Amino acid sequence: MPAPLNDLTPKEWVKFQKSWFVHNPPPRDKTKILHPASFPESLAAEFIKFFTRKGMWVLDPMVGSGSTLIACAMTGRNGIGIELSPYWAKIAETRLNEFKAQRNLFEDNTTEQRVIVADAREIDQIDLPLIDYVLTSPPYWDVLRWEGHVRQEARRAKGLPLYYSDDPRDLGNIKDYDQFLDELVTIYRKVADKMRSGAYMTIIVRNVKKGAWLYPLAWELALRLRDFLELMSERIWSATVGFSRRFALKGFEPFGHLGLADGSLSP
Ligand SMILES: C[S@@+](CC[C@H](N)C(=O)[O-])C[C@H]1O[C@@H](n2cnc3c(N)ncnc32)[C@H](O)[C@@H]1O
Repeated sequence: MPAPLNDLTPKEWVKFQKSWFVHNPPPRDKTKILHPASFPESLAAEFIKFFTRKGMWVLDPMVGSGSTLIACAMTGRNGIGIELSPYWAKIAETRLNEFKAQRNLFEDNTTEQRVIVADAREIDQIDLPLIDYVLTSPPYWDVLRWEGHVRQEARRAKGLPLYYSDDPRDLGNIKDYDQFLDELVTIYRKVADKMRSGAYMTIIVRNVKKGAWLYPLAWELALRLRDFLELMSERIWSATVGFSRRFALKGFEPFGHLGLADGSLSP
């Protein structure tokens, strides 16, 4: 009999099957808020608990502020995060160390989590253990650089960083959409080579709107990745559904989630 996918109870398992969900994370701390596009540790922990068992290895090839690694420490999984920018890598390490220092001494602390400063394009040259699960979120093309991006106004006013870096190797600095997609897919192909047979990859991504134009980044990635991964499921993270003061549904801006596997496991 194949090993179980996770350590969840049937009730917890069923809860994860919903095709869309609202996640209410705790407020971001002062350091996490510096990063222009992080996902909540609490959300990462839910995915990690579903796709792995304790002690397994999780990889995030673009770890940013370190959310995936903190979620690994929270859930007793080993984690490796790759990040191009030494600035964000340092922040990820600091946040991870702060989390570990605060956690209960009696909690599991036999696992390790580490950050590697590198270009994810070179992941094939990095010696890694066999990976049981990949959880990651790429730059959404150059959307942070795009002057019309509404959210940037609020960050600018608060003096928060607007971009990941000025490094030309940063995928968020590629202007051409097709080149961006090609390079991202090449990275994911190399990442897939680091995964054990049957392992899953979850990509948190959304389609990009620039003015009147919609670039279906989530769906294009899904189609291109089918060359070497099987598309297993999609979950929609409704980041903005809620009730406004007038108690109307504020709209639905989905964060797409693509669950990918090479086929030998089925949840
Ligand atoms: C959407 S953010 C990831 C945020 C992360 N999930 C978190 O919660 O903080 C994408 C990250 O990819 C990094 N990145 C961009 N190009 C990269 C590359 N070529 N190799 C590795 N990391 C890269 C950026 O610096 C940025 O931190």
